[in-house]
Amino acid sequence: MQPLHGLTPDIMAIERDAHRVPWPASVFGNSFGPRYRVMGLFVGDVLVGFTVAHVLHDEVMLMNIAVSPKYQGKGYGQLLMDDLIQFVSDENGHQKDKLFLEVREHNEAAIRLYLRNQFEEIGRRPGYYPPVTPGDERETAIVMHRPIK
Ligand SMILES: CC(C)(COP(=O)(O)OP(=O)(O)OC[C@H]1O[C@@H](n2cnc3c(N)ncnc32)[C@H](O)[C@@H]1OP(=O)(O)O)[C@@H](O)C(=O)NCCC(=O)NCCS
Repeated sequence: MQPLHGLTPDIMAIERDAHRVPWPASVFGNSFGPRYRVMGLFVGDVLVGFTVAHVLHDEVMLMNIAVSPKYQGKGYGQLLMDDLIQFVSDENGHQKDKLFLEVREHNEAAIRLYLRNQFEEIGRRPGYYPPVTPGDERETAIVMHRPIK
C-alpha cells in the first residue's frame, strides 16, 4: 500500500473501468490535498486499486474505493479496507471515532464488502446519485457507519 500524491493515467483508468458512473478527472483531481488520504495498492509495479478518504480530526469518510475489474474477487478490496480500518484505528496513536461511507443501494459487491467489515446502515438519501443510465431515476444512497472498537 502506498500513498498516491496526484492523479495519474493508471488511477483514472481504474476509475473509468471499475465504476458505472466514474468521477471525471476534474473531480478526482480535487481529492489530493491535506484533508485527503489517497492510497494505492500495487501488485509489483501495477496499480490494482485505491481508496480515497476525507479525513477530519476524529472522522473519516470513505469517498471512493475501486479495484481494477480484472483484479476483482481476489481479496484486494479487502486489503484496501484493512488498510483504511487500520488507519482509522490507530493513526498517530489518536483513535478516530467515526468511519462513514455512502454507497449506491444497488451496488451489491461493495455493500457485501462493507457488511463483511462491520459497517452498519444508519440512513438513506433518496435520489442522491445520478442514474447509471441517463433518463433513469436517480439512485438512493445508503449511509453506513463502522463502529470503532
Ligand atoms: C467493491 C470492490 C472495491 C471490491 O473489490 P474486490 O477486490 O473485488 O473485493 P474482494 O476481492 O476483497 O472481495 C470481493 C469478493 O471476492 C471474494 N474473494 C476474496 N478473495 C478471493 C480469492 N482469493 N479468490 C476468490 N474470491 C475471493 C470475496 O469473498 C468477495 O466475495 P463476495 O463479494 O461474494 O462476498 C470492487 O467490486 C469494485 O471496485 N467495484 C467498483 C467500484 C465501486 O463500486 N466501489 C464502491 C463504491 S465507491
